[in-house]
Amino acid sequence: MKIKLRTTEIAYEEAGSGIPLLFIHGFPFTRKMWTPQINGLADTARVIAVDLRGHGESGADIENLSMELFADDCMEFIDAASITGKVILCGLSMGGYISLAFCRKYAHRLAGLILTATRAEADSVEARANREKSISQVTEQGSAPLISGMLNRLFSPYSLTHRQPIVQQVEHMMGSVSNQTIIQDLRSLKDRPDSTPVIPSLKLPICIIHGEDDQIIPVSAAQNMVQAASDARLHILPQAGHMLNLEQPDLFNATIQQFLAEFSKG
Ligand code: MLT
Repeated sequence: MKIKLRTTEIAYEEAGSGIPLLFIHGFPFTRKMWTPQINGLADTARVIAVDLRGHGESGADIENLSMELFADDCMEFIDAASITGKVILCGLSMGGYISLAFCRKYAHRLAGLILTATRAEADSVEARANREKSISQVTEQGSAPLISGMLNRLFSPYSLTHRQPIVQQVEHMMGSVSNQTIIQDLRSLKDRPDSTPVIPSLKLPICIIHGEDDQIIPVSAAQNMVQAASDARLHILPQAGHMLNLEQPDLFNATIQQFLAEFSKG
């Protein structure tokens, strides 16, 4: 399904009914990364997964990408989908950066927040320099070297040995994102602001889920967010890396179900 926004078109899928739970994918992925959640949580909530602009089947309108623009798209999407009440956002990695950008402007529309495999801090000087190198690499050689360099770091050692179909699925998904989008994503990741100050200002329940073997974003980044938040719980999933929702779908979904149960209690 697709919804037209002012400056792009957003492809999405949804299932179930109840409190709206909007999934925001990471870099460089698509909404397909949330298939186990769309299938596994539809009896608990109204689950919706969007393709961010430039990704998957959404419009290729990628000028001036930023975490704020992605967050604005999510807000416009929620209104365009006629969701009038509050929603819960679940963002993984870059999806978490976007969720925190959303919080800066639209926290009043949130009932709760699920931050997974993500961090509040901006890029370090070293990380920014690495983004520049990746931009040059993709410009000169296309995305294949970036993808193969990232792939092993996205998964736990256990997943790399025992969950090869997931690794291949993620490789295929990354290969579906255009070089131009990857370059614009890298620029917007590099330039994103520090979201640390927004965390203590949030007066809503926050569920933080991290893979114990995440090599892209360390567990300490999740611990920092828990400490800064007024109402947050940290769940660390075993034998899981950066793609924890795919590596440990049952545990991941059970963690969300437990979080959502608090909302149905009122
Ligand atoms: C992601 O999974 O969204 C990215 O790894 C985030 C990042 O590179 O900071």
